Amino acid sequence: MELCVIEGDGIGHEVVPAAVAVLRKVLPDLQVHTAHAGWEYFQQKGAPLPQATVDMAQACGAVLFGACSSPSYPVEGYFSPIVRLRRAMQTYANLRPTRYLPVPTARAGVDLLVVRENTEDIYVGDEHTAAGGDSSTATKVITRAATERVAHRAFQIAAVAGRKKVTIVHKGNVLPQTDGLFRRVAFEVAELYPDIETDELLVDTAAYWMVKDPTRFDIVLTPNLYGDILSDMAAAWGGGLGLAPALNLGEDVAIAEPVHGSAPDIAGKGIANPTATILSAAMLVRYHWGMVKVAERIENAVEAVLSQGGHTVDIYRDDALNTQEFTTQVIANL
Ligand code: NAI
Ligand code: MG
Repeated sequence: MELCVIEGDGIGHEVVPAAVAVLRKVLPDLQVHTAHAGWEYFQQKGAPLPQATVDMAQACGAVLFGACSSPSYPVEGYFSPIVRLRRAMQTYANLRPTRYLPVPTARAGVDLLVVRENTEDIYVGDEHTAAGGDSSTATKVITRAATERVAHRAFQIAAVAGRKKVTIVHKGNVLPQTDGLFRRVAFEVAELYPDIETDELLVDTAAYWMVKDPTRFDIVLTPNLYGDILSDMAAAWGGGLGLAPALNLGEDVAIAEPVHGSAPDIAGKGIANPTATILSAAMLVRYHWGMVKVAERIENAVEAVLSQGGHTVDIYRDDALNTQEFTTQVIANL
């Protein structure tokens, strides 16, 4: 088994080694290949995502990615490395589960999965500013092909995991052509899975329900941007961003990557919560390598530590463990 490891920026340098240590423990034969991407690398070498990294990711087929910092203003030569890598590897479905974990910040009864389209929408990177600088335009792309493949993934996962309902989330009332196409194609695919209930919500109403009662949701199937936002909201119910895992899935390729970013406010302190990245690695083991028992070992070890009261500072301050201490406890519980 080959794994391409990209720490990226900020707390990526702390949480990714933690997850690699856990993986090495359960998969002693794992071959780890390190590659570079991100803002720090761009400042040193002038490239946010070097071709060597893309080549390594594609050769391995499996990637563990930390997070990359991206400024919120244009920088010549810079682009979001993860958005580019997801497209390069055609990992078209981003799975973002939220389920109750035994921490005081989590909400009992939550068990939902956001399935986010991962290759198009507003993330195609087609953004322009007119001369004078006072008018900017971004292109939103929705295609039948991309919607079909992510919708099939969502319903297939629902069937395998015994989930009952898929909620299609869109803004078709304002965007009847783009989101309208997503909605129409998603409902067409739904007809092929008659055992699974399907409903729909406009994204603003979905946000309302995500706050008011997240137990309303089972699987959420949605375009790229709404999935990004709703999965951060859902993460709050799962106990916080430090606990929220994700997996980008394509055909025989996958990128494990926590929902959170590079967290510059806490980077370098050794206090970041590695749980999200460890559970993302477990998703890679489960969905990409198909080793369900090994994935469960990792998930059970994390849950054991949390239920014994082991926690990092983002959960609560008193008696918090640092990244290293928390990881050592997870490994001890494998
Ligand atoms: P963020 O997710 O990095 O941080 C949000 C808040 O959550 C911060 O207070 C942070 O300290 C906390 N947090 C996040 N992960 C944590 C962890 N594992 N343990 C403890 N606390 C944690 O989002 P923010 O601050 O909006 O973005 C920072 C940078 O990350 C930006 O440059 C952004 O572009 C980038 N980003 C990158 C992503 C990626 O590469 N996939 C995803 C999201 C953001
Ligand atoms: Mg996000």
